[in-house]
Amino acid sequence: MLASVSLVVEKVGRSLRRKGIRGTLDSCLEGIEDVWFDRRFGVQTLEAVTDRRLPAGPAGIAPTKIRRLRWILRELPVAYQDFVFVDLGSGKGRALLMASEFPFQRIIGVELLPELISVAQKNIHTYSSTTQKCKNIDLICCDAARYELPSEKLVLFLSNPFERSTVSRVLSTLTDSLQKNPRPVYIVYQNPVCHDSVVGSGFAVLSMTRFYTIYTASSV
Ligand SMILES: C[S@@+](CC[C@H](N)C(=O)[O-])C[C@H]1O[C@@H](n2cnc3c(N)ncnc32)[C@H](O)[C@@H]1O
Repeated sequence: MLASVSLVVEKVGRSLRRKGIRGTLDSCLEGIEDVWFDRRFGVQTLEAVTDRRLPAGPAGIAPTKIRRLRWILRELPVAYQDFVFVDLGSGKGRALLMASEFPFQRIIGVELLPELISVAQKNIHTYSSTTQKCKNIDLICCDAARYELPSEKLVLFLSNPFERSTVSRVLSTLTDSLQKNPRPVYIVYQNPVCHDSVVGSGFAVLSMTRFYTIYTASSV
């Protein structure tokens, strides 16, 4: 008990030094909202993923904060019903559930680890919300680098799940797909560590915040 109290005190101290009072309060509220989301809907999206099958590259294996997802999804400059939302590296499906509150044509989660696909499947089945707008949610268990993109208009969501080589392969698949079938595509990249690769592949920055950047194919 004493050990966990001192852990919390240490964590808060670190946060205060890094983010100040306002930032620390914001982080606490974000955390509470995440816990509340799981409790309220009886789902399990909280814990970060660590697995030796994942590349040691980007550390960001934790799920995206609910508040941030809501913000991103609201800000998208798209007619939702015309677009397919694809979460590359969908984990336990939190982003898929949040996206389902918007009237996307359909929603797809692509995830490497079968055990996370099972958790996400359960979450999708359990999730019940009176405001849910899209129930057409598919899960695909595969390496995102090998995933063939759907031919519809796309919102691709990446929450820094991949190392650079995978991002490059995803971008090259997307570029090929756009050459064969030009269409509006938006890439929402949270914590965009491979920003240079995205821009280098010909995608233009549409908007940029501290946490994420939205890119679009320049022809849009
Ligand atoms: C940071 S989590 C993101 C979860 C979810 N997108 C969200 O925002 O809450 C990243 C996920 O990407 C998955 N992942 C890592 N490399 C992958 C790959 N090459 N193909 C598909 N999924 C991958 C991990 O297993 C992990 O579940």
